[in-house]
Amino acid sequence: MQPARTGVSMRILFVCLGNICRSPMAEGVVRAELERRGLLDRVELDSAGTGDWHVGEPPDPRARRAAAARGVDISGLRGRQVSPADFSRFDLILAMDRDNHADLLAMAGDAQAHKVRMFLQFARQGDGGEVPDPYFGGPEGFEHVLDLLQDAAAGLADHIERHT
Ligand code: 4NP
Repeated sequence: MQPARTGVSMRILFVCLGNICRSPMAEGVVRAELERRGLLDRVELDSAGTGDWHVGEPPDPRARRAAAARGVDISGLRGRQVSPADFSRFDLILAMDRDNHADLLAMAGDAQAHKVRMFLQFARQGDGGEVPDPYFGGPEGFEHVLDLLQDAAAGLADHIERHT
């Protein structure tokens, strides 16, 4: 008999600019997908922003509403900024867009740069591109972001299933 798998074996950080729209939605959508597949106990998830404007704030009300409409509650999350310690703590640091990716690489040491990836590289249908910033647009932008995040969440859950 195989021993039961216990404990967290992968830590994943989702990163955008403000940590009030894309990365908290990513964290919530991935948590929901892993819970649905019984994989949640294998991972630790968190999100952060490269900027510090929204530290301590809950996600943007439009992000909370759009996520809630898909059964994902992100109201308990609070904004924080990426810190140097994140690069040793987390195994995967997933950027929403190329600016986030470049900012993260500028912070990462040589030994940790391999942890920094684009989240949409895990997408099943997408092209591995960017999650566009919905902050200055309308509600349809949040729906598009959630479509992209849910697709990549399924691919990331496949990766977690294989590698933990
Ligand atoms: P996020 O969106 O990076 O997806 O959280 C933004 C939130 C706030 C700002 C920019 C983008 N801002 O400029 O305050």
